[in-house]
Amino acid sequence: MSYLLALDQGTTSSRAVIFDRRGRARAQAQQEFTQYFPKPGWVEHEPEDIWETTRRTAIAAVADANLTGAQIAAIGLTNQRETTLLWDRATGKPLARAIVWQDRRTAGMCARLKKAGHEVLFRRKTGLLLDPYFSGTKLAWLLDHVPGARRRAGRGALAFGTVDAWLLWKLTDGRIHATDATNASRTLLYNLCTGGWDEELLEILRIPRTVLPEIRSCSEVYGEVSSIPALRGVRIAGVAGDQHAALFGQGCFRPGMAKNTYGTGCFMLLNTGAKPVASKHQLLTTLAWKIGERTEYALEGSVFIGGAVVQWLRDGLGVIARSGDVEELAARVPDNGGVYLVPAFTGLGAPHWDAEARGVIVGITRGTTAAHVARAALESISYQVADLIAAMEADAGLKLRELRVDGGATVNAGLLQFQSDLLRRAVVRPRVAETTALGAAFFAGLAVGYWKSRDEIAALWRADRTFRPKAAAAAVARGQRDWRRAVDRAKGWAAG
Ligand code: G3P
Repeated sequence: MSYLLALDQGTTSSRAVIFDRRGRARAQAQQEFTQYFPKPGWVEHEPEDIWETTRRTAIAAVADANLTGAQIAAIGLTNQRETTLLWDRATGKPLARAIVWQDRRTAGMCARLKKAGHEVLFRRKTGLLLDPYFSGTKLAWLLDHVPGARRRAGRGALAFGTVDAWLLWKLTDGRIHATDATNASRTLLYNLCTGGWDEELLEILRIPRTVLPEIRSCSEVYGEVSSIPALRGVRIAGVAGDQHAALFGQGCFRPGMAKNTYGTGCFMLLNTGAKPVASKHQLLTTLAWKIGERTEYALEGSVFIGGAVVQWLRDGLGVIARSGDVEELAARVPDNGGVYLVPAFTGLGAPHWDAEARGVIVGITRGTTAAHVARAALESISYQVADLIAAMEADAGLKLRELRVDGGATVNAGLLQFQSDLLRRAVVRPRVAETTALGAAFFAGLAVGYWKSRDEIAALWRADRTFRPKAAAAAVARGQRDWRRAVDRAKGWAAG
């Protein structure tokens, strides 16, 4: 018997999952790591933490399943996207902490680029917006602010990568400097139509070509692990950004199929098929995946704070001891008591794209309790997802029949029921909760012949539970109106 190992390097934790041929998780390991917030709006990770937690969870999952490296058919790698690293090619040492996708430090740079009239060009070529979310301005910031970085980059001494490229480098002892097309499509440097780095955009952002990794597909043999003795020689055969992997893991292979992942943020992707679709409603045009020479595309709605609002209730506000306690706390009250929480902690993503928005809680009265705030926090996740779906349907000109959901917060039945009430349609949770990891395993498995076709994979997908709308439409509409009023109050706050 052989198995696949998926490495899912996320924003707050690294996970490793062993899958069998039927797509069932046989063992898994997970480790959280430190988040650094050096200034308001800044978010950083220690690159060595990203690697160490990945290495350790990989070893732990293999040991837990009682396997040896020889029984691992291949590794699939998937990752938090956009997070930006720069390291020295000779020593492998990072020049600075990784700048995390949530980090807003380049808001000013984005505003200047917009003012100079560049947004239309970036939008047309990359499908993205000029927002600090994406890697391009983060990389420019590192080159400008780390002493000597620009000079060293000019000499070809430095390597840039998103987390996939960093982990590929570490897994192979620096033999591979590559990224996959989905991760590349989140950098502001990748041309959706040519499928390569774009000279004109590189020039505008002042990024030297020498730092860039090679772009490859999501499903091919990249190389072999050399840095982890227990996995030495195992092939790395799948690489994709986590949201693209989740779309694949949810079996959304046909145009018109969509998934939403409730992770640190919320990310809804709609498969749009073989052609990129330009958004008229502030969504992103992005890659679904690239397999062989065939590229497929997606529309994406990205919400920056989803499950992270629960972490904030735990670590920031201290009203719960463990994330899992939120459901019980929120259930202590029958409704939100008129309280709305907009978790614009790092600005607002789709469909608002307001880098200066900040979080607000409105509607507090003398009777408001921690339970109301917890309830409002959970509801904010669903409200944001509902805003995405409205934009997506308007863009795609279709009505989604159902929404497939995954990610940590989908264990919370109350949240998914509320989501279905808001969307007025079925919300379907699959049996395998680790859909992102599963998608990475699928990409790797297809590359090495572990699975033969997409049809074989699609047949492995099973629903666990379907949530259908129950609440009265009038009450839902009232809530949505108040939510929008609250969002308006959050907008532009940091700009003064
Ligand atoms: O774009 C950021 C996204 O890839 C992060 O995903 O699961 O770490 O919240 P996650």
